[in-house]
Amino acid sequence: MPTPQTTAIVLAAGMGTRMRSDTPKVMHRLAGLPLVDHVLAGLAAAGIKKATVVLGPEMADQTARFAPHDTVIQTERLGTGHAVKVALEAQNPGESDVLVVYADTPLLTTDTINDLLNEKQNAAIAVLGFRPEEPGAYGRLLTEGDHVESIVEAADATPDELVVDLCNSGVLVANGQKLGGWVKALKNDNTKGEYYLTHVVALARQDGDTCVYTEGEVDELIGINNRADLAAAEEIAQNRYRAAAMAGGVTLQDPTSVFLCHDTTFGTDVEVGPFTVFGPGVTVGSHVTIKGFCHFENATIGDRAVVGPYARLRPGAELDENSHIGNFVEIKNAHIESGAKVNHLAYVGDARVGPGANVGAGTITANYDGFNKSHTDIGAGASIGSNTVLVAPVSVGDGAITGAGTVVRKDVPANTIAVSQAAQKNREDMADAYRARQKAVKESKAKDS
Ligand code: UD1
Ligand code: CA
Repeated sequence: MPTPQTTAIVLAAGMGTRMRSDTPKVMHRLAGLPLVDHVLAGLAAAGIKKATVVLGPEMADQTARFAPHDTVIQTERLGTGHAVKVALEAQNPGESDVLVVYADTPLLTTDTINDLLNEKQNAAIAVLGFRPEEPGAYGRLLTEGDHVESIVEAADATPDELVVDLCNSGVLVANGQKLGGWVKALKNDNTKGEYYLTHVVALARQDGDTCVYTEGEVDELIGINNRADLAAAEEIAQNRYRAAAMAGGVTLQDPTSVFLCHDTTFGTDVEVGPFTVFGPGVTVGSHVTIKGFCHFENATIGDRAVVGPYARLRPGAELDENSHIGNFVEIKNAHIESGAKVNHLAYVGDARVGPGANVGAGTITANYDGFNKSHTDIGAGASIGSNTVLVAPVSVGDGAITGAGTVVRKDVPANTIAVSQAAQKNREDMADAYRARQKAVKESKAKDS
């Protein structure tokens, strides 16, 4: 457990060159949330409410989004050790423990943080190690017994050192006062010409201080340096969210094809069919059936609703209990009230569909005139005929009916039937004559060619 004085430094200033992106690396998203926010959420869950986040100059205008955390700008990116030095100059932790985490290591869990903090109790530094299948470019922990003697970066390691499979996750906790001294003493006489944080272990040993380590799971500690790492981390994050949803009472028929967001919430007894994407801000009630092949973002689905297959809920879609949204239906900024049904091939945007109303196949709310968005209101129990176009702003009263193909340009009062199509003419016995004429046209064309 952290002591009340434990503070944290989050390193988020790196260029992220290997991402090949205009977006700073730590702002790339995992399950819809920027990497750095995953790290801050992990710290908060471990009881560390306030951190100092080290940012690069291109994020200098984004410091407000990090409140209540402190931020410090590392104007020159001279390495992880330099970044910690800049943070400590701003933070001055005194003798209390300082936990350093890298913002490109977003999958770290509370238990692992707590294990490391416990291990630190009788040492000056505790380092979190792990054993990835391919140690590759990770720094190596050089140990003696249960102590760490030094950390060597892969680029600077000897062949013998590269064989070591115990790697540095980048997470460490150290006595604040001492850490401040060591980061000031760092040199950049290495392959990259950077001030490596990892070198503080060797400095601590020179001072006769003790460095210990714990080992964490690979799945928590992969660092994200490029898009392939990001995809690997996304898979791990998705598996966690899927497992949590199932543990909470959600049936995922094919978990691997359902994509969740960090903030997706479910009630119990929800069924989700395959190939469904939950974007940010989706809340699902209980006893809901989602029939697969759906896409949702910023939407609310009430208890016992039935959605899909192939439904799209866009921002502001609010489905009340027992409502039904069927195939090839798009709902945007619309409130579908209790028991209402929009089951086939429809677009409902900027609208209210009253309780128990039925919206027929092919109905479109014409909500946008190229300049303004306008509202459509459909009353309780109304019945909207197939292929109705509702030219907003317009309302259809309670219990009203629109005929198939109606273009509703003016309000329909309650309990009224609206029809707008031209009257149908039936030409009796004309079908055979029509077919004979068309056949003759076709034959004369064939002769000419
Ligand atoms: C680092 C470690 C390596 C470890 C690996 C774990 C060092 C020298 N190496 O290597 O031992 O195995 O992480 O993932 O620490 N950053 C700054 N300012 C800087 C440089 C980096 O804030 O000047 C931040 C980056 O935004 C990133 C983190 O520090 O979040 C780590 O930097 P990165 O360049 O990714 O280090 P690695 O090469 O991965
Ligand atoms: Ca990294």
